[in-house]
This record gives sequence, structure tokens and C-alpha cells, in this order.
Amino acid sequence: MDGIVWRLVFVLFPEPIKLNKMKLEEKVAIVTGASSGLGAAFAMALVAKGVVVYGLARNLEKLTTLQSKLGNGFIPVGMDITHYEGVASWTQSTFTDSHLPNILINNAGAGYFNKIDELTLEQWHAMVNTNLNGMFYLSSNIVPFMKMNSSSCHIINIGSILGKTSRIGAAGYSTSKYGIQGFSEALFKELRNDNIKVTCVNPGSIDTHFFEDSGIEPHHNMLQPDDIAAFVVSILETPDNFLVDEITLRPLNPKRVT
Ligand SMILES: NC(=O)c1ccc[n+]([C@@H]2O[C@H](COP(=O)([O-])OP(=O)(O)OC[C@H]3O[C@@H](n4cnc5c(N)ncnc54)[C@H](OP(=O)(O)O)[C@@H]3O)[C@@H](O)[C@H]2O)c1
Repeated sequence: MDGIVWRLVFVLFPEPIKLNKMKLEEKVAIVTGASSGLGAAFAMALVAKGVVVYGLARNLEKLTTLQSKLGNGFIPVGMDITHYEGVASWTQSTFTDSHLPNILINNAGAGYFNKIDELTLEQWHAMVNTNLNGMFYLSSNIVPFMKMNSSSCHIINIGSILGKTSRIGAAGYSTSKYGIQGFSEALFKELRNDNIKVTCVNPGSIDTHFFEDSGIEPHHNMLQPDDIAAFVVSILETPDNFLVDEITLRPLNPKRVT
């Protein structure tokens, strides 16, 4: 084919534009609620990508057991994220202008499902303090360090399908998860010009220990934490100018008995 024909082919069938994926290797992440379930799956998936992960949770023993599987890329941090002073002092003593965080996954969560006249004050406070206050304490302390980072940063907030719709007995939990939705929407608009992405991930039922003592029955066809972790890693790997601001994940057939 002569040159003119090649040029015509190129105009008619141009190469697809290839966007560079964000490289995760050697990035620094904070994952709350890393001692079990989805948080532990995030930690595993990120360490496998070469990310240094600070895993936060109250149960230090479980975190240390996870470190023995994952190695030194996982750093256990025993912390109750509902205590502001603890979150603030850990952040200030861990990060400096030469050691900056890139990824924050606000995953730790509490859920109690009771009708309004049966939901205890303790359960209400646990949900608001963990799901909302904890997320604010981490985000407000980490964002100043992310703003110092010349590479792009990403905050992932784990909401829920119950932050999009609700059910009987979920008034407290849905209050917190709708709150996460609003927080994430405002934050993505606030931080986009600082090169910080914010994504709200709203999963349906996941096969973790979450339902123990929660007041609702798990079913037999739930989402798997490793699948969600792999999917979130792919969101983190999107090119710099590509934002997934919000996403809902559901089991296709939640009622199917396998
Ligand atoms: N499972 C589901 O069906 C489902 C569906 C939609 C959304 N979600 C959301 O997914 C997230 C992860 O839940 P999961 O299913 O993985 O449940 P999980 O296995 O019960 O994990 C919850 C994690 O949060 C940590 N945590 C709770 N309170 C904390 C506190 N005050 N300070 C620090 N860490 C705290 C727990 O660790 P310690 O006890 O060691 O502190 C644990 O690691 C939650 O935000 C949940 O709302 C779950």
C-alpha cells in the first residue's frame, strides 16, 4: 500500500487512545478496618501490588496475624478510629513531607439492624462514631499530607447499598451510609483540583463477619471480599484524569441458594 492509502486507513481506524494506568508499586496506603473482612482483603490485594499498607483496627492481634501472612509491606496499627486524638497523633507521627500517603480507604464500619424503638443508644452511637466520625477524623488528618504529594492520591469511602436505598430496621445504619454518600460527593468536588480522587463504593451484601450480632440474616449468595478488593484495585489503577466518583456493586442473584 502506498503512503496515501496508509494515511486513509489511519484516519478511518485510528489507534485507540491508550491512557496510562496509575502505578501502585511503592505507593503508601491507609486501610481502616483491616483486621477482618473487606479491609483485610484490601490489604492483601494492595500488598500484592507492592503498596505499603498501614492497616488500622482495634484488634492488634488480628492485624499482627495478617502481617505474618503479608510480610513487612503490611504495618499493623492498633487504633480505635472513633478517638480523634489517637487518629491525629498517629497521623502526625507517621507522615512527613518525605513520607506521604497516596491512598486512604475508609472501610471500618459498624452495623446494627433494629427497629427504631429497639435500637439502643450504644448501637446508634457506634454506627455514627465509626462510620461517620471515624471517616472524618481520618480524612481531615490525611488530606493535608495528600495535598503535599506531587503524585495523584485517592480516597475510597466504603458506603453501602443501604446508602442508596433502605429497609426496615436500617434507620441508623442508613443514616450513616447516606452520610458517607454526601461526604464523598462534596469531597470529590472539593479535592479534584488538588489531584486527589474520591470514590464512594456502595456494595450489597458481602461474605464477611459483618452480619454477626448485626440483627440481620446473611444469605448464601453474597459478594466475595477478594472480588471487591480486586475491583477497587482496578479503580485505583485508573489513569490520573479518570475518576469513578461513585459505584454500586450487588450480587446478581442474592436469593439463589447455591
Ligand atoms: N458485609 C456486608 O454485607 C457489607 C455490605 C455493604 C457495606 N459494608 C461495609 O463494608 C465495610 C467493611 O465491613 P465488613 O463486611 O468487612 O465487616 P467486618 O468483617 O465486621 O469488618 C469491620 C472492620 O471494621 C473495624 N472496626 C470497627 N469499628 C472500628 C473502630 N472503632 N476503629 C477501628 N476499626 C474498627 C473492625 O476491626 P476491629 O473490630 O478489630 O476494630 C473490622 O476490621 C463496612 O464499612 C461495612 O459497613 C459491608
